[in-house]
Amino acid sequence: MEEQIQNLKNQALAQIISSETPEDLESLRVTYLGRNGHINKIVEKIPTLELQQRAAIGRMVNDVRVAVEEALRSQYIDLTTQQKTEWFDPTVPGIIPKIGHLHLITQAIEEISEIFQRIGFVRVRYPEVEWDWFAFEALNMPKNHPARDEWETFFVDTPSHLRYGQMVLTPHTSSGQPREMQRVKVPPIRMINIAKTYRRQFDQTHAPMFHQFEGLVIDKGINITHLKGTIDHFARQFYGPGAVSRIRPFHFRFTEPSFEVDFSCVHCMGKGCKFCKSGWHEVGGAGMVHPNVLRAGGIDPKKYTGFAFGWGVERTLLLKPGVNINDIRTLYGTDLRYLKQF
Ligand code: PHE
Repeated sequence: MEEQIQNLKNQALAQIISSETPEDLESLRVTYLGRNGHINKIVEKIPTLELQQRAAIGRMVNDVRVAVEEALRSQYIDLTTQQKTEWFDPTVPGIIPKIGHLHLITQAIEEISEIFQRIGFVRVRYPEVEWDWFAFEALNMPKNHPARDEWETFFVDTPSHLRYGQMVLTPHTSSGQPREMQRVKVPPIRMINIAKTYRRQFDQTHAPMFHQFEGLVIDKGINITHLKGTIDHFARQFYGPGAVSRIRPFHFRFTEPSFEVDFSCVHCMGKGCKFCKSGWHEVGGAGMVHPNVLRAGGIDPKKYTGFAFGWGVERTLLLKPGVNINDIRTLYGTDLRYLKQF
């Protein structure tokens, strides 16, 4: 008898656990717990048993009833709330989600900003869609001046501004010079302006959109040694302790005197190698701010002098060891095999 009851319980629980719908559960409930169900059949036999057996069998049957009721209830919850999902093992090590990172140009912009901010420069961003006046006229390049041709400018087809002239996509961050002078009004000025710039050019070493950074320092008694020291400081910070800069006479309308700036090659430290040939890489322009530019910005050139420099973020970045690629367009591509390395 005991064995029969035990088997009944096992059979009931097995059927309940493998049932798939609430309707199945209902018919199992009737089969086991119903008035004519298996459990009642046993209960009906109890009075026929020997007196000593009755209490023990009664308790056993009752346990089975409780177990079956409990199993029906929990299976019903599983079926109706669909909690019966795959088995989850919390001890299995997790899968680390992939985390992206900033693009290497953004990283370079941040690094450049920090280098200059540490020596007191203020990071600004001036408009990428700019007026002619800021990009040229205020920089000592009157209308129709041939020097303008060097900045292969995109013009925006909108009506001209009465005072500031045509709208352009700024071809260099030097447009930030008169803007910063107007903003600060009274020197000292220590500006680092990093922005997108645009020129009509597209080949291995030029993209129509690129980034420039522009430094501008104006105060009493500023001279070329301050310019050279600042550029050298940048070279050491960005390329490593051994890097130096070189300035060569050049011509810009907005600086006098003007220079082109070279950095020593990081591979050969200026000796000459297959990357640089001469030991140097040209990066950009610099010079002492022209008095006419100070005047356009509302600053008295008799009281103040200043220096400015400006060049491409991409070019500066590509000279770093490890970044070496021979086509600047790779930087703007979507080849993750390249981009993920940085
Ligand atoms: N704006 C110049 C260019 O794009 C570079 C430059 C900046 C030169 C500041 C002198 C001073 O070529």
